[in-house]
Order: sequence, then structure tokens, then C-alpha cells
Amino acid sequence: MTRLDGKCALITGAARGIGAGFARAYVAEGARVAIADIDIARAEETAAALGPAAIAVALDVTRQDSIDAAVAETVATLGRIDILINNAAIFSAAPLTEIARADYDRVFAINVSGTLFTMQAVARHMIDAGIRGRIINMASQAGRRGEPLVAVYCASKAAVISLTQSAGLNLIRHGINVNAIAPGVVEGEHWDGVDAFFAKYEGKPPGQKKAEVGAAVPYGRMGRAEDLTGMAIFLASEEAAYIVAQCYNVDGGQWMS
Ligand SMILES: NC(=O)c1ccc[n+]([C@@H]2O[C@H](COP(=O)([O-])OP(=O)(O)OC[C@H]3O[C@@H](n4cnc5c(N)ncnc54)[C@H](O)[C@@H]3O)[C@@H](O)[C@H]2O)c1
Repeated sequence: MTRLDGKCALITGAARGIGAGFARAYVAEGARVAIADIDIARAEETAAALGPAAIAVALDVTRQDSIDAAVAETVATLGRIDILINNAAIFSAAPLTEIARADYDRVFAINVSGTLFTMQAVARHMIDAGIRGRIINMASQAGRRGEPLVAVYCASKAAVISLTQSAGLNLIRHGINVNAIAPGVVEGEHWDGVDAFFAKYEGKPPGQKKAEVGAAVPYGRMGRAEDLTGMAIFLASEEAAYIVAQCYNVDGGQWMS
């Protein structure tokens, strides 16, 4: 199938994990993709594996000059941006009494400011070029409610859901649809890091938290990057034209809203 034939997508944090899965799926659907990541060596490897339809672009979403340069480089190389997936994010966890201000600042700089200002830069390009584009922000079930050890990450993902709503309402007048995807728990290096936080704060042996959360998913297992690609393709497709400012749970039945 080639539901994204001729489309050009910029995907942040796509060097690995869910973002790399989106890039692979978009290329299979006929799109060309810019794999934009702070880890440029890994982004280059991921792009090379996808062939000529993929390019690697250096991007640090915490820096405005880097966002502007990555958007400019993508437009110069691919010609335009029809789809943005704001996927770059980091996780952190700590009891409330131990949260460090620097950690809060870093999580919000990447997960929240990074999402907002990348959205802004790409929306400006879409409006200037008359592109009726699509923006997909990566939220999380963590944005639906707080968790005892995860205040900062949960708040950052709640902010992503709220930004999606406001941006969606503001940009639809330009024909740009903004929506979000809220995964549950997804296999990969990200979750290996999450597991390490829980091992530290809950005294669990490495791997135990991951096994517990996987067993608790109603579907019966943790998610995989490929479980999320259908929604990312759908939201970028013509069929989703009337969907505005929504956040979809793709989580094996974890959360209902
Ligand atoms: N894995 C899960 O269980 C899960 C669950 C819910 C939501 N999510 C969300 O899905 C998205 C992808 O998650 P993942 O599991 O693939 O994560 P990941 O940690 O595997 O990948 C994140 C990518 O973002 C990049 N990145 C980090 N800081 C950056 C910066 N400043 N600028 C540009 N790129 C930067 C990293 O280099 C990495 O390639 C994230 O938004 C995450 O919060 C993940």
C-alpha cells in the first residue's frame, strides 16, 4: 500500500525506537522521511537502512537555531514538509522530594518546548507554502494521569496533550490537522531506561518492572513500535481530514478516555 505517496515527513527522535518504526512504515507507504535526531550517527544508520527515501538530519529540539536549521535542511532536501511527527522525548522518575530542578528543566525543554517550537517552525513552513499538512505529537498514557514516581514526565505529556488541543484548534483554519497518539508501554531502549529508574526507586531487580507492566496490559503484552504505525499512517492520510485536536490511546487497552 502507498497511502502516503509523494508525501514528505519530518520525524523527530527517529534514530531509534518508535520514531524509527514510524520512519520505516512511512517509507513503506511511499513517503520520503527526514530522520531528525540529536544522535546524528544513529540517525544516519537508520536512514541508510531505509534507502534513498530517507535522510538523516541533525536536530536538538531544545535549541531554536537547531530546529530552524533542521526544518530548512529538510525543506531544501525533500522540497517540503507535509507531515511532522513530534516524537523526541526523554523519561525521568524520582520521588517528589528528590526531583532536581535541572532534571525538570531538561524534560520540559525536550518534551514540551521541543514539541511546541518544532510545531511552530513546521506550521510556519506549511502556511507559507500553502500545505494542508498534518502534525502528530507523541503523548503517553502518562499524560492521562499522574504516577507516584513520575511527576515530571507525566506533567510533560499532559502538556503535550494540551498543546495538541490548542494548536489543533488554531491551525485547522490553515488546513493543518494536529493530533496526538498516547502509547502505553512500548518495548525498546526507552523502556529499558524506565525499568532502571524503577529498579532504583522500588528496589526491584532489573527487568522485573518491565515484566510486571507487560503482564498487566489487557492485550497481554507490551506494545511494539509496529503496533503504533497504523495510527500514525491513518492520522497522516486523507481519511483523517476531519479529525482535529484529538489524542488517541494506542495501548492494548490500558487507558480509556
Ligand atoms: N516507549 C514507551 O513505552 C513509550 C510510552 C508512551 C509514550 N512514549 C513516547 O513515544 C516517543 C518515542 O519513544 P521511544 O520509546 O521510541 O523513545 P526512545 O528513547 O527510544 O527514542 C527517543 C529519541 O529521541 C531522541 N532525542 C532525545 N533528546 C533529543 C533532543 N534534544 N533533540 C532531538 N532528539 C532527541 C533520542 O536520541 C532518541 O533517538 C516519545 O515521545 C515517548 O515519550 C513512549
